Parts: sequence; structure tokens; C-alpha cells
Amino acid sequence: MIKKNGNIFRLETENTTLILRADTAEYLYYGKKTEAAGDVTVLRGRPRRFVSCLGKDAEYSEQAVSVFNADGGFVSDFLFSKARILSEKPEIPGLPSSYGEGKTLELKYIDKTKLTLCLYYTVFEDGDVIAVSSRLFNGSKKDVRIRRLMSLRLDLCGTDYEIITFNGSWARERSKFSRAIGSGIFANESKKGASSHENNPFVMVRNDAGVYAFNLVYSGNHKELFESDVRFGTTRVFIGMNDYMFDWKLAPGDSFSSPEAVMCFAPDEDTMSLRMHAFVREHIVRGKWKKRERPVLVNNWEGTYFGFNEEKLLAMARSAADLGAELFVLDDGWFGRRDDSSSSLGDWCDYSEKLGGSLASLADKIRALGLSFGIWVEPEMISENSDLYRSHPNFAMKIPGREPFRQRNQLMLNLADERVQNYIVRTIGDVIARSGASYVKWDFNRAFTDCYGKGILPGEYYHRYMLGYYSVVSRLMKKFPFVLFEGCAGGGGRFDLGNMCYFPQFWTSDDTDARERTEIQAGSSYGYPQTVMGAHVSACPNHQTGNNTPLSARFNVACGGLLGYELDVTMFSDEERRAVSEQISFYKENRKLLQFGEHYRLEAENVRGFITVGKDRSEAVAVVNVVAYRPAMPVPVVRFKGLNASALYEVGLRGTDFRFVLSGDLLMNGNIPLDSVLRLMPRESGSIVSGMFIFRKVRS
Ligand code: GLA
Repeated sequence: MIKKNGNIFRLETENTTLILRADTAEYLYYGKKTEAAGDVTVLRGRPRRFVSCLGKDAEYSEQAVSVFNADGGFVSDFLFSKARILSEKPEIPGLPSSYGEGKTLELKYIDKTKLTLCLYYTVFEDGDVIAVSSRLFNGSKKDVRIRRLMSLRLDLCGTDYEIITFNGSWARERSKFSRAIGSGIFANESKKGASSHENNPFVMVRNDAGVYAFNLVYSGNHKELFESDVRFGTTRVFIGMNDYMFDWKLAPGDSFSSPEAVMCFAPDEDTMSLRMHAFVREHIVRGKWKKRERPVLVNNWEGTYFGFNEEKLLAMARSAADLGAELFVLDDGWFGRRDDSSSSLGDWCDYSEKLGGSLASLADKIRALGLSFGIWVEPEMISENSDLYRSHPNFAMKIPGREPFRQRNQLMLNLADERVQNYIVRTIGDVIARSGASYVKWDFNRAFTDCYGKGILPGEYYHRYMLGYYSVVSRLMKKFPFVLFEGCAGGGGRFDLGNMCYFPQFWTSDDTDARERTEIQAGSSYGYPQTVMGAHVSACPNHQTGNNTPLSARFNVACGGLLGYELDVTMFSDEERRAVSEQISFYKENRKLLQFGEHYRLEAENVRGFITVGKDRSEAVAVVNVVAYRPAMPVPVVRFKGLNASALYEVGLRGTDFRFVLSGDLLMNGNIPLDSVLRLMPRESGSIVSGMFIFRKVRS
């Protein structure tokens, strides 16, 4: 809800309030919900406006907008023009954004050169997230160069904040890091062209008052900038596209829109995660799969890598069907002459010798076993050893006359070029149509270098690529609305809200080791719900770490996301086969709860895990992993979360006869010893000891 009182606007979500003063462009309040009575203008104290005055007013700190203006200088001085409340959320041309019922506040500021800056704040009726974006319109008669346009700038009072970011690398995505802001500037950013494995755009800022979280609905270069101003005692937060190599020419009469940023306030981190989860589920993920239970899949990648033939695939698919899986995904290696990573990207034609016939006939044989068929593609890439490269070398992203940098032996395609976009839509559309795939894994296995497109200004390249990318994925997804698209980028290298507007799920990481996954999934869960996280049981010794982990523990950890199996399922012993069948049928029975329930992290000394609680709190599943075990150590304990304090629950340890009855209150506030897990669950050298507790309410 948005309320207006003169130039004061109150934006109210279910549990938070943001108060803005439009004429002076000031944030007066952002925090827990308040019935603001009286004269809120006394709440000043952030002496600098949230609209840019670069080079004006002795303003030397970071700015949200930087333009080389029509009058030849870098100065712009945006003065308030008008405010409007829009009943519908405006679309951001060419870019993904959140959607849903809610009002939008539009604030307009104009510089004397007739450059107009519009700021948009959308408040959804349900939930606690505010979506913010900005737009520049060049009303002058000369070109303007945009050097930076941040989506959001927020001034927070005080400099006592801790900044929390989620960083890592390939196979080690989204570990939680925090540091005191201190004085000066801190940036979390990506310059890789993609949102990156290294620095996810989801960030938090915390002090005694609570937690502020921010994210960007964008899959390219991003920047989250924090400037602590010890002179004025404020902390400024900027969220937006990275201005790295950015220089956009805005012709007279043209507009440029920033991607959308989102922000949320919550009293603590658990509440913040629940609010972000609800937002992503309701206002980011869309389409036919939004609320549909996701299939249990078997993917052949870690089971075969490139070394398969029709016989092997069908044997795997038969086992997958026997085990109760629902979808068989054929990963890399099925097209062109692709036997390793050195060739064929771009040639999306069947490798018939390897498939024993056409892709369509293989897909039919797999469907005849009672499974759906899914396929892997990496549409944005090109191998130099490919027919596509031989016929269209200029489709590749590289600078004429320079030797391009290769990663995983491949180059990228120049998606800023419309001909390349059309090629991808046509060829990938044909793969989906001829195979009848009901699932597509869209991969992206290298970062940008050698950015170049004929006729494209170098400072516009990264963003024009993203516009091309979004155009391609939205065209394909419109054409195949029933297909489940899973995003992937060498694991979780493009795990962001921009992609989640198109891909209802994303491959979380190429690291499938259960111990590692407890960290990766927990880190990811701060800003993203379990509903978007692909999580697979893989073989042991694990291919990334060499660790051995009991099968039950691998399953438990994978239940923290969308369950799949990624190993040679024909190699199971009879005992393993029985166990996996039971796992899959248990998962199907509890799938709605596990995939769509309220998901909380569990963390205590030597313990990591999660609990997923059903909407009415009558059932829950928790996974607790003892991550460090030493003989005779004190018994680790855990406190559960999200239960109904006054209800009585029967709690059972899956796979054992161990059970007890206890009130929700004591389950959440007492220390529940995990000796049962240590005593009864299997353990392998150096691995986690994992137990799954199942909660059923026995009395309200
Ligand atoms: C990437 C993906 C993997 C797999 C391989 C195939 O690494 O993250 O899951 O699809 O590519 O080459």
C-alpha cells in the first residue's frame, strides 16, 4: 500500500514501512512497520539526497547516476518535478522483473538539460519486498553518455553495520562472509559478464535494528556498493548494474532503464530468508511450473560423462524407471561429434552414431519406459571445431585481429547480434521440438572475454549481450510454455533473480559432495528458496572431493533442494537399489512439503541442516548433519524452528524405530541431543553423520 501526505510517501508492506520525502529526495525511515503519526519530517538526519548531484553541492561521495551531460559537463542536478502512484507495475523494456498485484510510486526529477530521471518503487500487497528501478530519458537535443545508472540507492543511518555477502568460486558457490563496514567503500561485484560463482548479487546489511537485504533482477555484471560516511554518520547502499566498461549512448528522445533491484527489511536473518523465499516463489518464478511439484530426475553426466552409447543410456533409463524416477536427462555429448569438450558447440544436430539413431527415436524409447525426456544444451557457446564456426566465424565473440581467450576450449557467441539470437532460437527450438523434451538444462560454461560486436559501442556490449540473451530465452520459453527449463552455469555461476524469472529451477553447484553441499545450499538459502535449487545424489567416492558419504546422508542433503540422481544407476547393489526406491517414494510422498514448505537453516556447534515446515505446521521434515565427529565429544544438540509452539509432535528418525513426543515449544527452545543420530545412522571415514527427523502433529 502507498499513502500520500503532501510530498511524503509511506510505502507499506505486510511488516515493514518505507517513508520517502519526494521533493527533497530523502529517505526518512525504513524498518519495521510503524503507524507514522505526527510530523515525520523531523526524521531527517541523512543530509544528502538519494538523487544524484554529481559534481554539485560539494558532493564527493559515490553517486547512483553519472552522466556525461548534453551541456558538455559531468554535472547533473535533478530537481523534483512530480510524483504519481501507478496502479500497475510498469514493465522494464527488454529486462526481466518481478510481477504481481501492487502499486508503484513514480518519482520524477529533471535536470536543466532536460534529462529526466524517474525512480520506481513497487509495493506488493503480499510480502515484504520493495522493488526499485530507475530510468533516464534524454529530452535534450544532444547525445548523453550514461556512465552509471544504479537501480537503487538507500541511505541508512549510522555506520555500525556488518555487510554480509555470498562468495566462492566454481564448485564452492555462495559461502557466507561478513565484515564490519568500518569507513570507506566496499564493493561486491561481478565483471565476468555473468552474475558469477564468485560474488552473488544477494547481499545483506545488519545492525542491532535488524537486517536489510538487497538483490538485483539481472544476470550480468552487477555491483553492490557500500559507502560508510563517517563525517555524516550514514551508510549508503547502491545496487545495480556494474559500471565496469559501461558507457551508454542515449540519443535525444531515448530512454534507458536500469534492471530492477529489490530490498527487504526483517528483524533477523531467518525472517529475512522466509521473506525472500516467499518473494521469489510468488513474484519472480512464473509460468506453468511455478507451483508444480518438480520431477525426480536421473541425469547421466557424472555417471558417464561423454562416454555413452544408446545401450548404456537405455540401461540407465530402465534402472531409473525401476527406481521410481520420473525424468531422464541426457546431458552433454549427444550432438555434432561431441566426445569431449573440444568440439561441436553450436552444431545442435544429432550425433546419430553415438545415439544409435536419432535423438527423437532415443527420446521415444525413453518415454516408452514411462519416463519423461530431458535434454542438455549450451546455446550461447561455439567451438572453433564446429560446422557453425566454419560457416559463421563472425558469430563468435572475439575482436578481429586478436587471438581470443579460450575457456573450456570454447568461445562465446555474440548474442548482441540479432542473427545469432535467431540462430539460437531456431536451432534450440528445433532440438526441443524434435525430441519432444519436457525438460531442458540450459548451460553456460565460461565467462566473457574479448567482447566485441560489429557496430556495437564497446561500452554498451555487456548490457546489449544481456538484452539479447533475455530476448532469446523469453522467445523460447513462450514457444514451449510446458517445458521445465533448468538453468546452469558450470553449476551455480548465474544463480540470480534475473534467470529465475525464466528458469523455475537452477543447478546449484557442480560440487555434488554432500558435506560441501550442506554449506553451498545453506549459503544459497539466505536469499533463495529451496524450490529453485537442483540437488543430486551422486556416486562415492565423490568426483569432486574423493569423500565417501553414506547413501542415506547423500539423500538427506539432496532433500534440501529438488531431488535428482546423477550417477550410473545401473551400478547399484540390490541393497542400494532397495534403499533408493524407498528414498524416491518417500520423497514423492513428502515432495510438496519439501519443495514448497517453509525452509529454515539449522545451525549449532558441529551441526548443519535444515527443517522444512508445512503451511499449517502439522508436519515437518528436518535434516541434521553432524559435520565434525570426534570420539567422546559432547553430544551435539540442535533446536528446531518454525513449529507450532503449543502443538505436540511425534518425532521419528527416518530408517530407525527411534521416536519421541515433545511439544513444539521444547523442540524449538530445548536442546535436542543428537546421540540417536550418532548411534543409529551410518558413518564413513571423514564424512558427515546425517539423520532425517520426521515431525507429525499429534495434538494441537
Ligand atoms: C557443466 C554443468 C554440468 C554438466 C557439464 C557438461 O559443468 O554444470 O552439470 O552439464 O557442464 O559439460
